[in-house]
Amino acid sequence: MKRTGSTSIPNGINSQAISPNAAEEDSNLPSGYKLITVLNEDIHRGTLILVNYQNESWIDGENLVNLYDNVSKSVGVKDDDMFINSVVLDPLNKLFDDFKKAKGDTTILISSSYRSKSDQTKIYSDSVEQTGKKSTAYYVAVPGFSEHQTGYCFDTAAINYEGDMVELDGEGDFSWLSDNCADYGFILRYPHDKTNITGIGYESWHFRYTGIPHALFIKEHSLCLEEYISGLKNYTFEKGGLLIDGGSKGKWVTFYVPKLDAFNNTDIPVPADSAKTPYTVSGNNIDGFIITVDVTKDSANSLLEKASSNWLCDTASLVIEDFHDYDPELDTEEDDDTERKNKGWESDSFWGDETDSENSDTDSVSDDFENRFEYVDYYDDYSEDYQEYEDNGENQDDGEISPEE
Ligand code: DAL
Ligand code: ZN
Repeated sequence: MKRTGSTSIPNGINSQAISPNAAEEDSNLPSGYKLITVLNEDIHRGTLILVNYQNESWIDGENLVNLYDNVSKSVGVKDDDMFINSVVLDPLNKLFDDFKKAKGDTTILISSSYRSKSDQTKIYSDSVEQTGKKSTAYYVAVPGFSEHQTGYCFDTAAINYEGDMVELDGEGDFSWLSDNCADYGFILRYPHDKTNITGIGYESWHFRYTGIPHALFIKEHSLCLEEYISGLKNYTFEKGGLLIDGGSKGKWVTFYVPKLDAFNNTDIPVPADSAKTPYTVSGNNIDGFIITVDVTKDSANSLLEKASSNWLCDTASLVIEDFHDYDPELDTEEDDDTERKNKGWESDSFWGDETDSENSDTDSVSDDFENRFEYVDYYDDYSEDYQEYEDNGENQDDGEISPEE
């Protein structure tokens, strides 16, 4: 198959005309499939990228649209300068329109969506000041490692009787959102029973867009995104992929293609006739691509012979060693570091080893922090310089802190 030019496929990934052996390779594919070539750097783009304490966000909110100008009247927004990735807009509007239909005029608003790295830096430092290090490490991602930087998620809030904005508790009428969000392509990103995998406390207010098939599967199997992205590696194209049967909502086969390290691009198989058999491609932000083929109208698709609906995932390997849930009752006035030492947490891989936290050579907050306490320690060391830096108006949207300057 001859490839010319560059074709845009959903999720901001471009297929390139760069594979010399395309025709030869295509002839080995099952019927109805062809190869396209994508750049390896695009593993960091798309609606399935996993951004967490281990995987930094390489993108800084691509294809953003203004929420205030575009959001449905069924939901409020906190400010007029809030943004979200354009693919999220329609599903978000539908979600809140249907929420309003189902629950009446409930006061709900979007309190946060896309955040730049410097927005996250400010949130992190304010949180340390207001709630302390442990609570911050439990609920706030280190700048650079926040899913909010992708533009694929949003936080919800309600207005309480005193007129204050409070995080959505997910109870009562609001449980409709977590119960139904998968039908619109959203997951509750930080479930209460997965904190030792996500590394983040239960957030009843934080929703992440993954697309409908993935959200349905994640919900049905009670997974968190870490488990799903890791498990999907078992479902390659050669093995037939994972079958996601959404009943009346549709049917999909999804599979993983590792990026080819020997080159800066990777050939991936996709349906030859995308009008009949639509597909999407997303990076996983770690090491490969996830292709999702909509077979709803293609019951003869050649992947269906082999695709499996049995879920396989080694969850144990994802559990963060010695993870400690944050308990506000135990967050006494005792200094965080002393308490940590007393509890023998100091050598703990997740909560931090302070021995090499003095990262004085670096001028960027994103440089190789092994854990969140290391980041907090770094922040403490440089907070005065940071304040000065901010006061001088130098903290522009590049998200960099340059304490040495
Ligand atoms: N609260 C989520 C984890 C964040 O800070 O990105
Ligand atoms: Zn959030």
